[in-house]
Amino acid sequence: MRIVEFLLTLLIIPLVHSISFWGLSPEIYQKISSKKEDTDLISSKKITKRWDVVNLLKEMTKVESEVGYEYQAMHWLKDILEEQGLTVELQIVEDSDHSNTGLARHNLYAYMGTVRNTKILLSAHIDTNPEGRIPYHEIGEEIHARGACDAKGSAAGQIVAFFELWDEGKIEEGDVSLLFVIGEEYNGIGMKTAVESLNATWYSAAVLGEPTENKLSKGHKGNFRFDIEAWGKKSHSGYPELGFSAIEFLVRKLNILLDSELPSSDLLGPTTVNIGTIKGGDSANIIPSYAKAEMYIRVAGNSSEIKNYVEDLFNTEHSKITIVQFLDPQYLSFDVPGFELIACSYATDMPYLESISIKKYLYGPGSISVAHTQAEYVTVSELYDSVVGYKKIVEFNL
Ligand SMILES: *[C@@H]1O[C@H](CO)[C@@H](O)[C@H](O)[C@H]1NC(C)=O
Ligand SMILES: *[C@@H]1O[C@H](CO)[C@@H](O)[C@H](O)[C@H]1NC(C)=O
Repeated sequence: MRIVEFLLTLLIIPLVHSISFWGLSPEIYQKISSKKEDTDLISSKKITKRWDVVNLLKEMTKVESEVGYEYQAMHWLKDILEEQGLTVELQIVEDSDHSNTGLARHNLYAYMGTVRNTKILLSAHIDTNPEGRIPYHEIGEEIHARGACDAKGSAAGQIVAFFELWDEGKIEEGDVSLLFVIGEEYNGIGMKTAVESLNATWYSAAVLGEPTENKLSKGHKGNFRFDIEAWGKKSHSGYPELGFSAIEFLVRKLNILLDSELPSSDLLGPTTVNIGTIKGGDSANIIPSYAKAEMYIRVAGNSSEIKNYVEDLFNTEHSKITIVQFLDPQYLSFDVPGFELIACSYATDMPYLESISIKKYLYGPGSISVAHTQAEYVTVSELYDSVVGYKKIVEFNL
């Protein structure tokens, strides 16, 4: 809230009881505002003042929305978008959250007027990673908060871009919709549900917000997450020939995988292999009969070749794999002039949009290098730049 508005609010508080969250109630604002026209640009609804992207992000991060606990954040967002004149739908994703409070988990879909299918979709997830809370604070021009860049910064940039385009008369009903989803930080249930049963289409382009340092992403790697289990036969460690070491078997196989040249791509770089955990055995003097490794391959090349190779290597008489997640690499649109480009190595909700034959963009403020850490932040100038960037991508695809 700007100082002037703050002072006006103080003056008016004794006179009215309906002070809205963002400052003055629409009626009061209309009376005192010299820019009357602004108040009914959208349909016939009265609009309160537009937000500054930094203030919007600040308020958005105050409403916590750790993955699984998104109820309040979505209802808060519904109220403020409706206040701005949008038609807002909440889509039930799951009947209750993970906390036994019985609160439902929703996606939010918003658009102007009555046209649900739009040319362009702007979308971000508003659930945040459960890596510990970070209360909102500023350090210089850095805005620190859980979700600052992953991905509430994107959501705030998209909302402000939408209203700026609207107020400038550059978009009309049926051009752009906003979709805010839950569950991205866990299993993508929000976007999956939206694509399967929101029954809305976006026939020109979908723009997903994630921290790309305000660069247009050329694509991101796929995920191949799997567990390997190996079984052997116990024996006295002095007599290994009487047993069969599950650990030794697994380690030799893993070495083959590490030394193999897996398909890569010019666009996305190398395919990388992480042995995330490795467990097994009972004691130094026993030949181990069981071993398990949890694996994560970030897939940059032909994913079915990589999957076949891994299955051939590890599905043996002594071992087998269990696939946890398998998502193809994503090749995205980067045809809008004036952007720096970036290739990303993290996963997003993008694969769920695969079935929708439209152009797909990945773009947003902040850096993945601080997401999921205690140092998560986005800068003020990145936030403002992201508004410009989202507007540019939309205008290019109208
Ligand atoms: C989409 O259509 C399906 C099938 O008709 C229906 O069950 C579902 O409720 C619809 N979803 C929305 C959000 O309207
Ligand atoms: C990936 O490799 C498989 C098997 O070698 C091949 O059939 C398929 O066409 C390839 N896919 C792409 C996208 O190159």
